[in-house]
Amino acid sequence: MKSNILNMLRSSPKTISGQQLSRELGVSRVAVWKHIKALTEMGYPIVSSHEGYHLAGETDFLYPWEFPSREDRIHFFQEIPSTMDNARDLARDDCPDNTVVVAQRQTAGRGRIQRSWHSEDGGLYFTMVTRPALPVPMAFSVLFAASVALAGVIREMHGIPAEVKWPNDILVEGKKLAGMLSEMLAEGDAVVYVNLGIGVNVNNDPRPAEPGATSIAALLGKNASRRDLLNNFLDAFLEISRMETPQILARWRKLSATLGKTVRILIPGGDLEGTARDVDKSGALLVETPDGKTERITYGDCIHARISHTKPQANEQP
Ligand code: BTN
Repeated sequence: MKSNILNMLRSSPKTISGQQLSRELGVSRVAVWKHIKALTEMGYPIVSSHEGYHLAGETDFLYPWEFPSREDRIHFFQEIPSTMDNARDLARDDCPDNTVVVAQRQTAGRGRIQRSWHSEDGGLYFTMVTRPALPVPMAFSVLFAASVALAGVIREMHGIPAEVKWPNDILVEGKKLAGMLSEMLAEGDAVVYVNLGIGVNVNNDPRPAEPGATSIAALLGKNASRRDLLNNFLDAFLEISRMETPQILARWRKLSATLGKTVRILIPGGDLEGTARDVDKSGALLVETPDGKTERITYGDCIHARISHTKPQANEQP
């Protein structure tokens, strides 16, 4: 109902009467009034007058009814420690494929390799529960599909030259715009779920704390819609994740900021330097070392070109 009311308010440049809303939505005027009151309390700028109702300005809320085509799969929270925890609970309770937990803020956002992820107002923080019909060794392709989908929608929506960095960061001009974290449950060789946690710097400004990061707003010089980004990402992810892994990898290569670069890989037991040549069919990075050997990297932090001596924050491109 809320999504229908908002649709009507959004598509009407003028005030709509309570009578028209109640007639077109098939509910009483009192019911309309109650929904309008609830929406106003949630922050929607709805102006009521004796003539009816008018939406005075756009919003960027992430409430489930802002996603009419998938409303029942969106779980929104104003503030939680981490969307990863809620998504894990839902996944264990057999929630459907592509259920999404999204938060306005996280108080204990997590990044890869035991780092934290700053999650203040304005960013987009969500975890999607996926149930791919894949054997465990192929589960990585879900993450590659998500990186390709995210870089693609950022390019299409905003004309920003987003690139993918191995394994799953999104960079723009060498600065980190988004990061991904995954958590998987398997039974034997079969995947039960892969939870994809994604943080995108949209209207938050990560730069004071992390000079190696950027945001969509900083790149555009104006705020962007997190709702449209999430909706478009979910559509694109569904399309790309249906492709065969070699096709997904081919798209990843085209968007890659890593291939061809001199990289330093931080792995437990010693760092490794060389040139990133390719990703293999299981998503491992193939690095050619100065002695001409090719190393297969399946885990670790990848640093592009310049040498860093300090431990980077998760929101930063190390
Ligand atoms: C990284 O680049 O290290 C991965 C960052 C992942 C951050 C997202 S924000 C939504 C989800 N919830 C978390 O606690 N982390 C992920």
